[in-house]
Amino acid sequence: MTYQNHDGAIGVFDSGVGGLSVLRAIRNELPDERLIYLADSGHAPYGDRDADFILDRANRITEHFLASGVKAIVVACNTASVVAIEKIRSWCPVPVVAMEPAIKPASQSTRTGVVGVLATTRTLSSANVARLCEAYGKRVRILLRPCPGLVEQVEHGELYSAATRRLLTGYLSPLLTAGADTIVLGCTHYPFLGELIGEIAGTDVAIVDSGAAVAKQVLRRLEGSRVSTCNVPALEPTFFSSAEPDQARSVISTLWGKSVEVHSLALTHQG
Ligand code: DGL
Repeated sequence: MTYQNHDGAIGVFDSGVGGLSVLRAIRNELPDERLIYLADSGHAPYGDRDADFILDRANRITEHFLASGVKAIVVACNTASVVAIEKIRSWCPVPVVAMEPAIKPASQSTRTGVVGVLATTRTLSSANVARLCEAYGKRVRILLRPCPGLVEQVEHGELYSAATRRLLTGYLSPLLTAGADTIVLGCTHYPFLGELIGEIAGTDVAIVDSGAAVAKQVLRRLEGSRVSTCNVPALEPTFFSSAEPDQARSVISTLWGKSVEVHSLALTHQG
């Protein structure tokens, strides 16, 4: 039996600002829940770190959320999800919702029978992705494309720069040449590059991510512990970041679409 404090917030975290794409979907699905977002940008990208480091960050952030009285946690990071989710769920007393690349829906909707998956190297080399490819790759070709450098571009707010376009063109071209008509964004930073990806891939290519599905999963896990929905205006999330404060405020405000306050939070080892 999990403990749920009905008045608690939902804690959402990512290695950086990418999870804001998931936060937006959660806010659309649950406009009257209190949301706390923690961008661990001071330690991004997680994709280049070893598993112990990622697990340590995920544990620390989870402990911090629990100390704040959250009623659920969303790991809005595919990389942290594949590394840490089972271990966190083994001790965390509130529901923990994780990311999974949208390989299943993509493999069911492709018309050409070729699906491209963009994500970090660590996510794509995980047992979770191997299991998804095994389950849904029998009649569909699933092409996995690691994308080093893209997380950094989003962390720097470079959503439309020439360097970002160059990187994306290099990653997408082989997939498009192979006939992919569906591109899965298996990293929560990538939806912020959706416009540029659409421009490069063309209008015949579908771009899918897991944000809305995860928001629905949060709703399901909270059934019975929802706060009242008495026509209150949508609440603004509370934002925390482990990055340098000015940079954090600037990027989070840009990606969230309005100027927001961002609190500093390092969560480093004491002594
Ligand atoms: N947003 C994270 C993900 O979904 C990025 C991981 C990273 O920092 O490398 O995987």
